[in-house]
Amino acid sequence: MKLTVPDIVRAETPLVMVTAYDYAGAQQAARAGVDLILVGDSLGNMVQGHPSTTPVRLEHVIYHTEIVRRGAPDTFLIADLPFGTYTTGLQDGLRHTVRLMQESGADAVKLEGATPEVLDLTRVLARNGIPVMGHVGLLPQTAVNQGGLKVQGRDEDGARAVLDGALALQEAGAFAVVLEAIPARLARLVTERLSVPTIGIGAGLHCRGQVLVYHDILGIFEGDKKIAKRYAELGAQATAALGEYAREVRERAFPTRENSFVIKDDVLDKLY
Ligand code: KIV
Ligand code: NA
Repeated sequence: MKLTVPDIVRAETPLVMVTAYDYAGAQQAARAGVDLILVGDSLGNMVQGHPSTTPVRLEHVIYHTEIVRRGAPDTFLIADLPFGTYTTGLQDGLRHTVRLMQESGADAVKLEGATPEVLDLTRVLARNGIPVMGHVGLLPQTAVNQGGLKVQGRDEDGARAVLDGALALQEAGAFAVVLEAIPARLARLVTERLSVPTIGIGAGLHCRGQVLVYHDILGIFEGDKKIAKRYAELGAQATAALGEYAREVRERAFPTRENSFVIKDDVLDKLY
């Protein structure tokens, strides 16, 4: 059963959120029983091979969200508003959000930050029945201003900005707030202060939910990320499997009789 916004807000057990970008990933997440799927603009890194999320365009998020929707028709689906789609004025933000929702089948949108512009848009969207998820702490879309992909909220000003931002997003009507890459005890404080759920990534154990990127959970790329846990090594397995296929083709070990179709002798004889 697909969760509703009140189900999410009132959830008493930890909310499980994962990103997905395609049909197979969405099906896997849905079958695994996750609560929420996010079509993150991390697709810029994970799918498109860019070093940041800046090049991700609205059409890209729409395209991937449509596909994910088909793989997970009954899971609450959130789509990221990508870089530049909600910072050029309220009208643009509204227009882009409506387009994203209508063309992709998302149930909600997520925006980064708690600037006056983001809060204004959140307020208008929430008031008009469009569920908005907030996102504070590390903001990948504008991380260049945060000194790169770094932990946020470690000093007093930074910690206060995270707390105030989350409270302001709730006040503006956000139904949940992602906390990315902040100290665990700060995340705990924010979680205690908010009545809507916090969804953590690199934010410790005390958030009301957790989110991870599909590729990080499955170990699709090399390298270690402190905030993620690799529950599989699919990247290495995929490379090994493809290598085995290549070897078998070269050695004429694949395909075998089992993979081949038959024709009756008398039919073939007529061709000789
Ligand atoms: O784009 C993304 O994957 C995200 C999550 C990490 C929260 O925004
Ligand atoms: Na994102």
